[in-house]
Amino acid sequence: MNTLKAESLMSKGSFWFPELLFSSGVQTDRLFYFIFICSCLMFVGIIFVVFYFLKKYKKTQSNQVAELQLTHHHLLELSWTIIPLILVLFVFGWGFKGFLTLSVAPSDAMEIHVVAKKWLWQFEYPNGNKTIGELVVPVHKPIKLIMTSEDVIHSFYLPNFRVKRDVVPNRYTRLWFESKRVGNFQIFCTEFCGDGHSDMLGVLRVLDDKAYVAWEKEVNSGADMPLDQLGEKVYTTKGCITCHSIDGSVKTGPTWKGLFGSVHKLTNGQSVSVEENYIRESITAPQAKVVAGFQPVMPTYSGVLNDREIVAVIEYIKKLK
Ligand code: CUA
Repeated sequence: MNTLKAESLMSKGSFWFPELLFSSGVQTDRLFYFIFICSCLMFVGIIFVVFYFLKKYKKTQSNQVAELQLTHHHLLELSWTIIPLILVLFVFGWGFKGFLTLSVAPSDAMEIHVVAKKWLWQFEYPNGNKTIGELVVPVHKPIKLIMTSEDVIHSFYLPNFRVKRDVVPNRYTRLWFESKRVGNFQIFCTEFCGDGHSDMLGVLRVLDDKAYVAWEKEVNSGADMPLDQLGEKVYTTKGCITCHSIDGSVKTGPTWKGLFGSVHKLTNGQSVSVEENYIRESITAPQAKVVAGFQPVMPTYSGVLNDREIVAVIEYIKKLK
């Protein structure tokens, strides 16, 4: 959905995992390998025993009725109860320890608020900056996300960091991570949340300290940009691109190509001609007038875009003839 591309997940990883960038994720990987290897050994063992018994107790001419060889064997029954019990308790203890480490963020973590909605991720930073579809953080700094949803259940997943947590309406869930290096990494939604679920992607942009400070300053300004250019920037960085095309193709929402000056048929049977006020209303109160043939799924951008950005979007749409 974003113009910013994340690095390919499997380019630097192992056969099983993408590159690990969060030191606390080491335990997750080790536990996976432990369970995986145990499962393989058990699989081989069970198959071996099955074939061994097949051979040993094969029905032959001289042995028409299979004899009951064993009725009870204390040692055997105790061992196949106690050994797996020890194994699962060990896995539980190990997993619980990792769960606690991943649940409790260090006290000096930078807190970023996350709002998920169909179908985008919105991030709000300590200094009031907001981004959509792109989470920008400094490197080597613990980041704590405080997440909620405006509609259905979503799930925030960073494969490179081995962290994933549900994002639920009317409550907050938390997650933390810290990046070992700079780069652009994939964010997924991993809870099926409707039509646009597979497009509900994002990019985690990890910057070094200097670049982060510079980004903090420039991100929400755009003050010296011409309106139509700012509009294009808003289109790509604030999530419009997820649902609106600029080439005439139909996505979740109407295309922006040739939009300005056209006449829209609405779901209530009325018609409306597309001019500045209608576009403004569609951005701040998207449900007020819904174009026939589309679902009323657009989230409001009221409070997300400032006045200049709304004007910029209008000017950008005018240019897309
Ligand atoms: Cu949000 Cu899937």
